[in-house]
Amino acid sequence: MILNNSRPIRSYIKRQGRLTNAQKNAIEFHGRNYLMDFQDKHISFDNLFVKNLPIVFEIGFGMGGATHQITKDNPEKNYIVTDVHQPGIGNLIKLCTLDSLENIKIIEYDGLEVLRTMFINHCLLGINIFFPDPWHKKRHNKRRLINKDSLELFSKKIMFGGMLHIASDWEPYAMKIIDLIRQDSNYQIINNHFNERPKFRPETKYESRGIRLGHKVWDILAMRRKPL
Ligand SMILES: C[S@@+](CC[C@H](N)C(=O)[O-])C[C@H]1O[C@@H](n2cnc3c(N)ncnc32)[C@H](O)[C@@H]1O
Repeated sequence: MILNNSRPIRSYIKRQGRLTNAQKNAIEFHGRNYLMDFQDKHISFDNLFVKNLPIVFEIGFGMGGATHQITKDNPEKNYIVTDVHQPGIGNLIKLCTLDSLENIKIIEYDGLEVLRTMFINHCLLGINIFFPDPWHKKRHNKRRLINKDSLELFSKKIMFGGMLHIASDWEPYAMKIIDLIRQDSNYQIINNHFNERPKFRPETKYESRGIRLGHKVWDILAMRRKPL
């Protein structure tokens, strides 16, 4: 018998990273308010949040500083956010607890799988992906989170008129993303100045590091078009 050992190509490496006591305590004592399990089926948004509001999904919040700020700045939206990095999950729970935020849920799982499996089509107001790992070596490019297939998946889950917001400080990746989006008739890019950070997006931790290294930053805002 030939065994099929092929494993899916993931856009992340699960790093062990030590948790601080504060992060550990946040998960232990407040995790139940914020954490949601991955489920292998569509989920209902009824009763998930205190208020029934439009939902924005995020893949890869890292340490969660920008995600916490965005959630706090936008009480008229609910957020479902994903990452696989435990210290970041602890940190985000800690920050949200300090502000008693009620409009965010965290799923520790591959964001692409969550999107594919848990959401019905066209249910999201938007998707945010800030500084996806660049996987800059040619042989690693296949691990990039954003490609033709994932853009197609995002277009299935975002409602018409909703927004895909991607930021990157890796020029070849940013150029590739812009190219792919322009070729996809499901989207219309709505910002003209890619190197201007929109006021509603706080600087992220990964971005600050890139800026210190002299990198430029691209923000790409693409609206999900209504089919003609
Ligand atoms: C370069 S970091 C950027 C983090 C944060 N957005 C920032 O700008 O500081 C990318 C993050 O995406 C996460 N990530 C990558 N692929 C993912 C996936 N498929 N699902 C969930 N998280 C993912 C990684 O674990 C990592 O924390």
